[in-house]
Amino acid sequence: MFPGFGELVARLDKSVAARSFEVITAGVKADLEDLLGRSALALPDRFRQPRADCYARRLLYQDPERRYTAVVMAWGPGQGTPVHDHGGLWCVEGVVEGEMAVTQYDVVPEEDGFRVRATGTPLTAGVGTAGRLIPPTDYHVLANAQPDATSVTLHIYGGNLDGCRIFVPRDDGRYQQTVRALSYHE
Ligand SMILES: [Fe+2]
Repeated sequence: MFPGFGELVARLDKSVAARSFEVITAGVKADLEDLLGRSALALPDRFRQPRADCYARRLLYQDPERRYTAVVMAWGPGQGTPVHDHGGLWCVEGVVEGEMAVTQYDVVPEEDGFRVRATGTPLTAGVGTAGRLIPPTDYHVLANAQPDATSVTLHIYGGNLDGCRIFVPRDDGRYQQTVRALSYHE
């Protein structure tokens, strides 16, 4: 494997053994902030290549006991997500390279569609920054904050995230919910 990979897996194995999502995600967040903050994870080039059509999503590691999955995403200029959740899984997302814009949202079901509102101001997350998301308050938007360069992020999910809900604005100001299937790029 590559420099930092063994340390990442060893640390995650230890952190996910905790008993609550609260403690697990605090541990994983500290793991990512430490490793990424020291630039100790030397991802191979294939994980760092953006795609033209949308952000690239590549599987880095799947825990054999299925307790967590590590996924790397590469974001070209202008690329980002819609408002989304994380399929009911806990999740910690860290910046490996570049800079990401992160906005948290409240999503409230109403009779006709969903009301979606940003909570607080968007923040710009740099290398070594990690954020954690615990359902049910886990709605956000991620976007590359660099106008002319690729950014790379590392996502640890508490299982195998094969789908999530996305929320797309309608003309009437409400949002429509759609289930999006997620797969991996090569
Ligand atoms: Fe996310």
